[in-house]
Amino acid sequence: MQASMNLSQLDPRAGRATSVLAEDEKPGAAEPEALNITAASSNPKMFTLPWHKPLATWPEDLLANLPRGISRHVVRFVHVGDEVYAMKEITRQMAEREYEILRRLQKLELPAVRPIAVVTGRHDANGEPLEAILVTKHLKFSLPYRALFARNLRPDTAERLIDALAVLLVRLHLAGFYWGDVSLSNVLFLRDADAFSAFLVDAETGDLQVNLTEGQREYDIDLARTNIIGELMDLSSGKLLPGDVDEIEVGNRLVERYHSLWSALTDTDKFGPDEMWKIEKRVNKLNELGFDVDELEMKTEEGGKRVLVRPRVVDAGYANRKLLRLTGLDVQENQARRLLNDLDAYRASTWREGEDLEIVATDWMREVFEPTVRSIPREYRSQIEPAQFFHEVLDHRWFLAEKAGHDVPMSEAVTSFIKNVLPGQVLNKKDIDTLLEEADSGVIDDESTYYDNDADDDGYNPDFDPDAAVWSH
Ligand SMILES: Nc1ncnc2c1ncn2[C@@H]1O[C@H](COP(=O)(O)OP(=O)(O)OP(=O)(O)O)[C@@H](O)[C@H]1O
Ligand SMILES: [Mg+2]
Repeated sequence: MQASMNLSQLDPRAGRATSVLAEDEKPGAAEPEALNITAASSNPKMFTLPWHKPLATWPEDLLANLPRGISRHVVRFVHVGDEVYAMKEITRQMAEREYEILRRLQKLELPAVRPIAVVTGRHDANGEPLEAILVTKHLKFSLPYRALFARNLRPDTAERLIDALAVLLVRLHLAGFYWGDVSLSNVLFLRDADAFSAFLVDAETGDLQVNLTEGQREYDIDLARTNIIGELMDLSSGKLLPGDVDEIEVGNRLVERYHSLWSALTDTDKFGPDEMWKIEKRVNKLNELGFDVDELEMKTEEGGKRVLVRPRVVDAGYANRKLLRLTGLDVQENQARRLLNDLDAYRASTWREGEDLEIVATDWMREVFEPTVRSIPREYRSQIEPAQFFHEVLDHRWFLAEKAGHDVPMSEAVTSFIKNVLPGQVLNKKDIDTLLEEADSGVIDDESTYYDNDADDDGYNPDFDPDAAVWSH
């Protein structure tokens, strides 16, 4: 193919090309005569770039030196005003197609790089045509996997990266996107505070459909597994992979995580207006699988509401930190996660998704959390932590809702919990008295040892001690 031959002379990485889509070269698809920039919004700086030069020869001072993954095509990061754009030199058909797919992915709010423009009609100084360029916005702080795995990666970080990829793949598939070329090279990883996310970077081979068949999904996963194992083995042979990483295990993990996530998310789809408990069940299941849940999004549809449950991958201690920041409550991680889930459900069910979470959290504290924990009967207050109480009331509410087949208000759950469950878990005053009596019964240091003067063999007699009365009588 003409284009890739040219590229291989310009950029050594292009020599690794294995295949290029056959549909690149549609006969009759002539390049525009003059430079043409198709973009959703205009950026005048774009016209000042040296489009008449092959991308591989663009001057250094335009380029941003940021980590980049392996690619078949020439890719460069370019400063354009205050922005950094990723430019990829490919055929016009490929550029236009990828641009279109990326735009559709963006509309669906899926995690993919943002398309900026397609530049066609390029010619060099001699008037010879040059390939088109696809321009995307550089994803800030993103890292290609080689940069990540080559560092001293903690084993749990490696697992979280794979989990993040599983989340990406499930989200794309749920939206009907068939990728066709899943590999670590076509993903960017982002570590943002405690969260890990994966973004699609190369949509060349992808296709958006209404629904994917199981065969298409399985094909994507299978290819992902094969590619991941291959890519990690490649790192390993270059001594870039920590010795304790098992490539095959990592590949298998993706498949396993994908499947469990897929089934957790596709269990039940629609639910009635009083069936939030069904969502709760799904969220709990995701938590058990080790996925956190991003903000719940509620939509009304014919035949019921629909809640979008969006999983994500976070670091240990994430929930505790987030809850502390939002509410000032400093509780155990699992409790924090539960409380945050309830806060999310509160936000979704009160249709306040657009509002600042800080504000919603203040209202949730006042309207939900505080009234609930204030209802802990006085006699039990020293025995159950408020966050634990709240957590258990939620469990109980879920149990009641499942039995009843509809949601149960918090106040009802609290009353029932206090009446039916709490007494079995904590000790009442009588229990405590009995317990204390029992506890004392085994004490050797009982009264007889110090009242019985005969038992004293050290010659001490409290009756002759002026201070003794103070404590012994
Ligand atoms: N918008 C972007 N933000 C950050 N990095 C990017 C962006 N676009 C591309 N890259 C980097 O450039 C690399 C190559 O991009 P891409 O995968 O699109 O090229 P390609 O030649 O089509 O790859 P392939 O060999 O898979 O066909 C990516 O792995 C990524 O590291
Ligand atoms: Mg690629």
